Amino acid sequence: MSKMFETECDKLEHLVIPSEMMANIEDDIPINIFSKDIQSKLEKAAKLLKNGEVVAIPTETVYGLAGNALDKNVVPKIFKAKNRPSDNPLIVHISSLKMLKQLLPDGRIPEKYIPVIHKYWPGPLTIILPKSSKVPDVVTAGQGTMAVRFPNHPIARALISLCGFPLAAPSANSSGKPSPTLASHVYNDLSGKIPLIIDGGSCNLGVESTVLDGLRTPPAILRPGSVTYEKLKKVKGMETVQVYRRDFVDKKLEQVPTTPGMKYRHYSPDAAVVLIESNIHSTEESYKEKRKFYENALKELEETTTVTEKENNTKTKDNDNNSNIKKALKEKNRLLKEHVLSPEQYKEISKLATVAEKQNKIIEQEMEELRKKEHNQESNKKIGILRSQSIKTWKKNHSIEDENEEETPSSKKLKISNERSESVKSSPSTNLIFINGNQQCIEWEGHIEYFMGDRENPADIARELFKALRFVDKLNVSTIFVEGIEDVDEGLAIMNRIRKASSKIIKY
Ligand code: TXA
Ligand code: MG
Repeated sequence: MSKMFETECDKLEHLVIPSEMMANIEDDIPINIFSKDIQSKLEKAAKLLKNGEVVAIPTETVYGLAGNALDKNVVPKIFKAKNRPSDNPLIVHISSLKMLKQLLPDGRIPEKYIPVIHKYWPGPLTIILPKSSKVPDVVTAGQGTMAVRFPNHPIARALISLCGFPLAAPSANSSGKPSPTLASHVYNDLSGKIPLIIDGGSCNLGVESTVLDGLRTPPAILRPGSVTYEKLKKVKGMETVQVYRRDFVDKKLEQVPTTPGMKYRHYSPDAAVVLIESNIHSTEESYKEKRKFYENALKELEETTTVTEKENNTKTKDNDNNSNIKKALKEKNRLLKEHVLSPEQYKEISKLATVAEKQNKIIEQEMEELRKKEHNQESNKKIGILRSQSIKTWKKNHSIEDENEEETPSSKKLKISNERSESVKSSPSTNLIFINGNQQCIEWEGHIEYFMGDRENPADIARELFKALRFVDKLNVSTIFVEGIEDVDEGLAIMNRIRKASSKIIKY
């Protein structure tokens, strides 16, 4: 797509909506509660949106690429700017229940959703609702249902209120890239393609909203997010909620890309991502079983795919057969992506005491392999690691002693990485780069390490994950290793995104 706009970036921080007003989800926010300066910035964006343009806006999850959801001529511009396949439906963002009711076929919110709406709206929760003819088919990619979210970011809420119409908004990244959590990420992907980015600073949550389909029985989480499975289960009517892929699969859902991130490549930086997935409950026995299962399945698939491929060569246009091959190949690819350690490696790894030690050891072994390979190819690329071990372990491993390290660390091995994002503060007296005050990206023994957060606080890791992927990806790395965490609380959303970004998963 050629350059169509001189993309402007408007800073708009410190916009506050009084909490009583925020809590009143029935009504929209009146513009006159804001200062003249804020009003004029919001009006500029609203004018573009009313004129049928698309604008990137901050939300509490990630930046969104917004356009009038009710205008069928606007929506294709969203798809085009981010190069998104047109069969992947968008989320409709509203700023009051009044606005929502106008979009529903009978003007009524399904009873089942009432408790969850009152508990988690406004917020990082998207719900699947029946769609009326008011919402054009391009928004929902022809689905009979629509996805709706009521954001709690003050800029998003004020802007939708001011427009007076709902905004369709996918994440404001180029399709396939990690979602943007800083305005600079949006600029990087979409500069020249949209007229305006509203810079509201760093997104507080960092992963996209939870997508909940409460029209299904039992209700289903199609995409995990910050409104976690553990939280949803406690809401009336949601006690039996299931997580897609973890608790069930559905053929129909697999065919259309309504299960977020299912059909298309997602969250991928340019470097290859390798996930080191801890399975702390795995015993020697269950490991052996897993390994055997994996080897047998791969062998069996090898046989079926070669047979079916051969058959297919003789019997053309056999649809059944075709779908069998596709299925087998898909399964084969999945198993090839998921790599279980060799028995020798496993033995060595299992001697180690902590998850962090084990992950570290695997990364070391893999790095060595990679370095040998890259040395042969005379590559000058580095290796990146995204850490989620405890801050104590991480600091100890890097001879960082103090919480507020202000002095040059004693170890000479520590070197600053030479690139930084706007959120990075560095102290000239140290060799460390501090990201957002307490998170760090350093160069260590020739590789780049980014500390995302402590695995005990998955919300911190969620906030950093996409930033870390984008940041390290810019540092001339060939491969990024990521330390996996447990699939609980926000960990479920984090692992869901990393698994999709990974070209290889190492399980132990
Ligand atoms: O946090 C978020 O949800 C962000 C911010 C900007 O609000 N938006 C976002 O949008 O992540 P997007 O388009 O990147 O992801 C929306 C997902 C899509 O992957 C799509 O599959 C799913 O929601 N979706 C949309 N309509 C649906 C429907 N009718 N049924 C099931 N899933 C649907
Ligand atoms: Mg997206």
